[in-house]
Amino acid sequence: MSFFETRHLTKHFGGLTAVNDLSFQVEKGEIYGLIGPNGSGKTTVFNLITGYHPVSAGEILFRGAPINGLPTWKICKLGVGRTFQVVKPLRRMSVLENVMTSAFNRTGKKSEAMDKAMEVLEFCELLKKKDYPAKGLTIGDRKRLEIGRALATGPELLLLDETMAGLTPQEQTAGAELIRKIRDSGITIIIVEHIMHVIMNICDRLLCINYGQDIARGTPVEVANDHAVIEAYLGKE
Ligand SMILES: Nc1ncnc2c1ncn2[C@@H]1O[C@H](COP(=O)(O)OP(=O)(O)OP(=O)(O)O)[C@@H](O)[C@H]1O
Ligand SMILES: [Mg+2]
Repeated sequence: MSFFETRHLTKHFGGLTAVNDLSFQVEKGEIYGLIGPNGSGKTTVFNLITGYHPVSAGEILFRGAPINGLPTWKICKLGVGRTFQVVKPLRRMSVLENVMTSAFNRTGKKSEAMDKAMEVLEFCELLKKKDYPAKGLTIGDRKRLEIGRALATGPELLLLDETMAGLTPQEQTAGAELIRKIRDSGITIIIVEHIMHVIMNICDRLLCINYGQDIARGTPVEVANDHAVIEAYLGKE
């Protein structure tokens, strides 16, 4: 039994098949990369896993049990956390309050939510900015806050959707370190990312999709050298 698995996962939006018969397995402790050109269905896969969209066909299993059909909050409570490609912090709340809101996923007590939020902010190196309003953060810190909000829900599986987009090279390196540190803390990760050197450096395995379909899978080096992958990104000669 895999820690996480999809079987024949399919999603139609009207006549468009955004995810097409996609099956993959993720083992506990992995950083698993999901890559593919723009519009290939990566975010839709995350939306299906987390219950934001109902699946059209197929199954999603977390720790051996099916989770498709469950409401988003239940999936979160079971231990699947996510970030959003377009970050949407509660803008007028402070950084600390934003993270506390997520921590209420695991506790009803304000003091416990506060402790958890402080721990997460320290982990994400945002503690110094805990009283800043979220809307005042730089894009780099907003991406970190987005990761912190997902961590505070207490996930065992974390889905990261382009948390490096728009970051400077230094911020990307720091972001990659943070992602490794999250994995080393015992959280399994599925990451969607366009920045190839980040993907190549931190992922244990990759799955590349195009038009919602699996086109290659394997180690980062195997996938990066695959003809179908190169063609999907650069087009045919
Ligand atoms: N809610 C929706 N309704 C209709 N079509 C959608 C919806 N969400 C996504 N799509 C379509 O599904 C396809 C896959 O989109 P998706 O956002 O999953 O791609 P992506 O791989 O995340 O792309 P990007 O790299 O640009 O973020 C696209 O053609 C998109 O227009
Ligand atoms: Mg996307």
